[in-house]
Amino acid sequence: MNYRHAYHAGNFADVFKHSILALCIEHLKSKPAPFRVIDTHAGIGVYDLSGEAAQKTGEWKDGIGRVLGAQIPPDIKALLTPYLSSIEALKAFKGRDVYPGSPEIARHLTRGEDRMIFVEKHPQDAKKLADVFSFDGRAKILELDGYVAAKAYVPPKERRGLVIIDPPYEERDEYPTMFTAFVDAYRKWPTGMYLLWYPVKNREETKRFMVGLAEAGIPKILRAELRVKRLTEQAGLAGSGLIIVNPPWKLADELRVLLPWLDGLLQQDDGHGWNVDWLAGEGVSSPL
Ligand SMILES: C[S@@+](CC[C@H](N)C(=O)[O-])C[C@H]1O[C@@H](n2cnc3c(N)ncnc32)[C@H](O)[C@@H]1O
Repeated sequence: MNYRHAYHAGNFADVFKHSILALCIEHLKSKPAPFRVIDTHAGIGVYDLSGEAAQKTGEWKDGIGRVLGAQIPPDIKALLTPYLSSIEALKAFKGRDVYPGSPEIARHLTRGEDRMIFVEKHPQDAKKLADVFSFDGRAKILELDGYVAAKAYVPPKERRGLVIIDPPYEERDEYPTMFTAFVDAYRKWPTGMYLLWYPVKNREETKRFMVGLAEAGIPKILRAELRVKRLTEQAGLAGSGLIIVNPPWKLADELRVLLPWLDGLLQQDDGHGWNVDWLAGEGVSSPL
């Protein structure tokens, strides 16, 4: 477990993932009934952009740095408000250049009756996460394997909410492990919303994963992807995607407005692009 998110916090992939996560949480709030957010690979929750790790890579400059420096048109602003409000609130609270991870975004956007489970396997990171959230009794922090937790903690007693699975893809078998954990969780809780993050790196592995999902007999699977550069051996992370199972109504339409704008803003070379399509349901449109 060498991956430390502090080096990558606020990069283009975080902007993509966190803005969509924030929208999904906002949709859950359209009904008064409480819900639960389960984050299986939570990280440390809050990242210092002036700290050594973030400064070393400077990745945030081509991510949240570009967003905060942009003129944002009103239709995009409306879609980014939940995400940007999480950042502003955290900065105001800490009084310096910090960036919220997925747990902090969930914490900021959820209401008094909503609950959160944050799982992190790395012992030191789990401890940091527990320290960050010690003041919020709505959140439970677990030092545990996120894939075990994905299955063990669903369905939540609220019977509403989302599970975000955001692994670092360090392990060779990360895709099959994630696939199995997701399918097991889905079988126990087929009405939950699931967000599965994947890197645009190895297209063969990703394709196998997509085919497995499309053939899993799950009625509604939306895929959103944002690529910022050409995929080459040297490129590293060229983009990232989210599989959204049981997406909120209207999310696909919203992403078809948001992603072209993010695409224009975050592109790094002419290999950039975006897509929003259905792997299952709503008029399957994607060539696998
Ligand atoms: C991409 S980072 C998470 C970032 C976080 N979700 C966010 O958006 O702010 C992945 C995290 O998963 C942790 N991790 C790796 N393997 C894990 C596992 N099997 N179960 C739980 N956490 C794991 C890593 O220590 C790392 O903090």
